This record gives sequence, structure tokens and C-alpha cells, in this order.
Amino acid sequence: METLRIFDTTLRDGEQSPGATLSQPEKLEIARYLEGMGVDIIEAGFPISSEGDFESVRIIASEITKSTVCGLARCAPKDIERAGEAVKVAAKGRIHVFCATSKIHREHKLRKGKEEILKLSVRSIQQALEYTKDVEFSPEDASRTELEFLEEIVHAAIEAGATTINLPDTVGYATPKTYGEIFSHLLKKLPIIKEKNVILSAHCHDDLGLAVANSLSAVENGARQVECTINGIGERAGNAALEEIVMILKTRSDVYKIGSKIDSTKIFPASRMVSTLTGLAVQRNKAIVGQNAFAHESGIHQDGILKFRETYEIMDPASVGLPTNVLVMGKHSGRAAFRDRVTVLGYKMTDEQIESAFVQFKALADKKKEVFDEDIEAIIDQSLDMSA
Ligand code: KIV
Ligand code: ZN
Repeated sequence: METLRIFDTTLRDGEQSPGATLSQPEKLEIARYLEGMGVDIIEAGFPISSEGDFESVRIIASEITKSTVCGLARCAPKDIERAGEAVKVAAKGRIHVFCATSKIHREHKLRKGKEEILKLSVRSIQQALEYTKDVEFSPEDASRTELEFLEEIVHAAIEAGATTINLPDTVGYATPKTYGEIFSHLLKKLPIIKEKNVILSAHCHDDLGLAVANSLSAVENGARQVECTINGIGERAGNAALEEIVMILKTRSDVYKIGSKIDSTKIFPASRMVSTLTGLAVQRNKAIVGQNAFAHESGIHQDGILKFRETYEIMDPASVGLPTNVLVMGKHSGRAAFRDRVTVLGYKMTDEQIESAFVQFKALADKKKEVFDEDIEAIIDQSLDMSA
């Protein structure tokens, strides 16, 4: 099966989440974990943004050997110099150069014309190549850029020596159909992409909740690198979530027929590490890593799970690094789950005793959001006393 490159930008775009600033040792700790998970490329930071970020990227570049370490740079000589200095010590170093190309960014942000942006991008890629042969170019806001200009600048970037072309949906405006079409269009119009073995990459933001769907559409249309973050953290509504992309490819390999090198059993610990270090809580119902992702409360579901796990679980919790699923005891829980919990807690009860305890459990569950083991133990002790 073909392999999709996983480009993790938790330490760059992810750290751009308001309130997510990480210290240099914290960034290194996360980078080490990402390397252990099998991440292909770690975007370690934006070296020009601060002395601290430069140091973080440099230290990560000097310690990490299996993953490629990448530093971000605008199309400005000083940016590229800093990124180059930071990653040049890496076993495998990459510079990621970006320049906005959409009309709205050209006119209102850069105040530059197409020709100037094209020349600037080419010059910047050439400068980056002085530090490493691995140069990625992103026409920022690609999804809102006129297709003709996108073709022109992507062609020029490849001729200048860029080996990866990333097409960011910078403001999360694309839909799966429109985003996928950009990739198929460029692959059709620009034979140079295949001739030079250039990798097309997806980079999606989640403003409309479509980051993962858009990334997968890009993959279906020829992208072979996806940029993503742990827990989907990132600017505004965030980036595509690494854990979702990896587990979709694994669970629905029948559809996508492409895998990744990620050791999925490291997903849950990575999620907890990033959440603890950034201080950004993971929403309870977040796919794959949320507290409820493998928790079942309804009686019908709990009964199904106890009979055969796959009735209500499409992934094994162990496959994402969770030791077990959880049957949450609440007002929707039924006798099967209650009986199971009684056994797990080490009690031996007759059917009659269980029935009486179950009635008390239901009465309590109507008053509480969740009934904990201690509550159940108290109910059981009381029922056993009464029947003694
Ligand atoms: O969203 C974006 O456009 C970016 C670029 C810097 C790649 O993060
Ligand atoms: Zn981004």
C-alpha cells in the first residue's frame, strides 16, 4: 500500500493557537514523541518569529534524526537565513517558504502584483536551496487564488527547485469538492509535478469544520502529504487533526487505500501530552481522543458492547493507545452493564439482589449525571445488608 507523508505542525501552526505557547524544553519533548510515533516531517517552528523559537527549532533539528525537521519562512531574505541556520544541523532539514497568492492577500496584505510575488517566491526558493535540497513552497490562501495564477506560480516554484508544493486552505473556506479539484487540476495541467517527483501537500484549517474532509479529498485527488496537528489545534478553529486522518486511513483502508507510518497506539498519549503542555483542553466528544470517544452510556449500546465489541465500536480502543473502552453508568444504562460492573467490582450477588440494587441505581442515576463506582458500591452494600 502507498504511504501518505504525515507533516505535523503542532509546534508551529498548533502553537499559533491563542494561549498555546510552549517553552523550548516542552517543544523538544513533543518533538521526541512525534518522532517516536513515526511522523515524517515535524514543523518545529517559525525561526524568525523570536530568539526562543529559533533556538527551539535549532535544538529539535540537532536532536531529531528520524523525522525531517522543518522551519517556516516568509519570502524574505532574513526569514530564510534564520530558518536555514536553524535547520542546517538537522540529519534531514527542510525549509518551508510561503507567500500569499490570492487576490485579497495580494491587494490588501502584500500590496504586490502577481509578477512581483512570482519573482519573490522564485528568489526565496533559490535562497532556501543554499541551505537544504528539501524546500517546500506554499502559495498561502491557495484555495482562494485564481487557478491560472496558481498554475503559473506552482510551475515556477517547481522549476526553481521546490520539492514539495503545499496548497493551503488558509482560512478554511474550501469544501471537499472544490479543494480536491485544485489538486486534480494542477496534476492535469502541470506534467512537471510528476516528471520531477514533486509531492503535493494539503494544509487545511477548520473554520467550517471541514479540515479533515478537505484533506482527505486532496488525498483522493493526488496529495501525498497532509499537514496536521495533534488534537487539531491551530490558528482560530484549528488545523486538520492528525489522529483523525491517521485513524480514518486505518479504519477505512477499503476506501482510501493509502496508509501512514504512524504508530497509532501512541495517539492517545500524544493527545494528553499536547493538551497538558499547551493547556488546551480536548473537547469531551472529540473524535478519537475525547473522553467520550470510547465511552458508552445507553443500555442498548452497553449490552451490545458486552456481547460483541464491534457492535458499537469501529475502532479498538487499544489501537489508539487507550487500555479499554468505558461503560459509563448513568440513567440510560441497563441491567447488562450494571451486572457487568457488579462483577468487575468483585461482588457476587444473586439475581434478586442485583434486581433490588439495580432499582436503587436507576433512582440515583435519575438525579446524577454520572454514577461512580463508589455510588454503586454503596448501593450494593446496602442491598446485601438488607437481604442478609
Ligand atoms: O494556513 C496557512 O496558509 C499556513 C501557511 C504558513 C502554510 O499556515
Ligand atoms: Zn496554517
